[in-house]
Amino acid sequence: MSAHEKVETNLGLLIILVILTVSVGGLIEIVPLYFMKSTTEPVAGLKPYTALQLTGRDIYIREGCNTCHSQMIRPFRAETERYGHYSVAGEFIYDRPFLWGSKRTGPDLQRVGGRYSDEWHRVHLNNPRDVVPESIMPGFPWLSENKIDTSDIKAKMRTLRKLGHPYTDQEIEDAPAQLEGKTEMDAMVAYLQSLGRSLTSRR
Ligand code: HEC
Repeated sequence: MSAHEKVETNLGLLIILVILTVSVGGLIEIVPLYFMKSTTEPVAGLKPYTALQLTGRDIYIREGCNTCHSQMIRPFRAETERYGHYSVAGEFIYDRPFLWGSKRTGPDLQRVGGRYSDEWHRVHLNNPRDVVPESIMPGFPWLSENKIDTSDIKAKMRTLRKLGHPYTDQEIEDAPAQLEGKTEMDAMVAYLQSLGRSLTSRR
């Protein structure tokens, strides 16, 4: 019996060898990514979210915007012509959790920052059909009524700092004052306007 035949006719041995091969192959592919600068370092100009943008991002998750919108432009012509430069790993260093997604009921939002005015976003989020008559996106009118809850922003920023987001003591100390009197709509618009700006000329 040849060695090959031995492996192919012995299920236990085959399983062990397959697992071994896949693990070694996987490690060779995955481990270097942890040491490559292009995947672990922020792209030039990337800043951690401000207190207001960070709050907007949490509201974005709370409202489930990410269930209809991806934030990940793939490197294909059809995508880059529509949305702009494809996404690169270094843009997401300060995204916890990532909001890449793969399902697009609405358009990708990774480079929506700067595409519309703040006012457009306010009208659109309040009732999308006021600016896009055929839109199927739901309205979020309560965002302009709800005041931001400022009680947990310092703790959030401190936690993110432990994970490597370079917030200064001063920024954390000033955070609640920055959110004072602002609505959830202000935070959401600030977040949307910050999206994808570090890699584009639109700043
Ligand atoms: C049920 C799916 C759905 C949900 C949930 C949803 N959207 Fe949308 N969104 C759409 C669709 C469809 C469009 C395209 C039509 C339009 O512009 O209204 C869109 C368009 C947009 C646009 C304009 C993008 C562009 O490039 O023109 C923005 C910005 C946006 N949505 C933000 C949000 C935010 C913020 C939330 C959460 C508060 C949200 N969406 C929730 C479906 C959704």
